[in-house]
Amino acid sequence: MTSAAVRVLDAIATRHGHQFTYQEHLIGGCSIDAYGASLTHETLVACKAADAILLGAVGGPQWDDPNAKDRPERGLLALRKGLGVFANLRPVKVHPALIDSSPLKPEKLQGVDILVIRELTGGLYFGWPKGRDVKDGRERAVDTMEYYDYEIRRVVELAFRLAKGRKNKVTSVDKANVLESSRLWRQVTTQMGAENPQIALEHMLVDTASMRLITAPAALDVLVTENMFGDILTDEASVLAGSMGMLPSASLGEGTVGLYEPIHGSAPDIAGKGIANPIGTILSAAMLLRHSLRLEAEAAQVEAAVDAAITAGARTADLGGSLGTRAMTEEVISRL
Ligand code: IPM
Ligand code: MG
Repeated sequence: MTSAAVRVLDAIATRHGHQFTYQEHLIGGCSIDAYGASLTHETLVACKAADAILLGAVGGPQWDDPNAKDRPERGLLALRKGLGVFANLRPVKVHPALIDSSPLKPEKLQGVDILVIRELTGGLYFGWPKGRDVKDGRERAVDTMEYYDYEIRRVVELAFRLAKGRKNKVTSVDKANVLESSRLWRQVTTQMGAENPQIALEHMLVDTASMRLITAPAALDVLVTENMFGDILTDEASVLAGSMGMLPSASLGEGTVGLYEPIHGSAPDIAGKGIANPIGTILSAAMLLRHSLRLEAEAAQVEAAVDAAITAGARTADLGGSLGTRAMTEEVISRL
C-alpha cells in the first residue's frame, strides 16, 4: 500500500521537478518479529528527523495473543505520542460515482463533505491509571478518560482554523451528560467559541452524532472530538464513502511534521493478494503534500487524478470492481 503511494509521489515529483528522498523503517508486527519491539528507538528517531511519515497498517492475527507484552498497535500509539501529533484529520467525502457503493439511500449522500478532527494523543487511549489488578477478590481492568485543558484547546484551535477555510461551522462531539472529561471538553470549547464569534459552534452528544452521521450526514461539516469517539465515528463515516479503503488521514502537531495513514487496518483476510484498495493511502500521500510539504497544487492534482479514475469506473474489489492494487494505482498515475 505504501509503495503504491510512493509511486504516486514520485510521479507527481517528476511532473513538478521535485525530488523526494525516502527511508524505510519497520513498525508494528514486522518490527516485533525483527527486533522484539513494536517501535524501536531508531524508527522513532528517524521519523522525528523526517519531514513527513507515510505509514502502513500495523496489525495481524499472528500478533493477537492477549498475553503478549507488546502488540503492533502499541507501536503506532507510541509513534503518534512520540511525534506529538495530537490532531488526526479524517476527511469524508462521497464521490458521486460511488453513491451506489454505500448501503445508505442516495439522497442522504448528496453533498456530504465532512472533516472529522480526532484528538489523537490523549483521552481514553492514553489516560492513567490503566491496567489490571485484583480488587476484593475480583479481577479488574481499568482505562482512564483523561484530558487536560491545553490538550482540548490545541485540537479545537486547529478545528476552528480549518473551519475558517470551509463553512465556519464546528460541531464538537462529547458525552457531557455523563463524563467529567467531556464537561471540561465542552467548557473549554464553549469558551473558545466565545473568543471566535465568526465560528458557528454546536455541541453534540456522541450517541446523537453517531445517529446524525447516518441520518443527515450532509448537515455536518467540521467535527472535533475525543480520541476514541473519533476512532469509532470515522469507521462509521467511512460507510458514507462506500468503503473503508477510500479514507485517508493526516496526523498533525505543532510543526509541519505529520504522520499520514489510511484509516483502515491491515485487512489480514486479503493480505498479500495484491487486491487492496490503495486510494486511502494515495489520498493520505496527497494530504502529506499539502500539510507537511506545503505543495498545495501537487496535492490537489493527486486528488483530482483519484476523482477522475473513480469517475472513469476504476474500481477495486471492495468497490465491486476487479482491479488489483497495482492496476488501480496505474489508473491514478495515468491521470496525473
Ligand atoms: C485507527 C486504528 C487504530 C486506532 C488502531 C490500529 C490502534 O483503529 O487508526 O483508527 O484505534 O487509533
Ligand atoms: Mg480505527
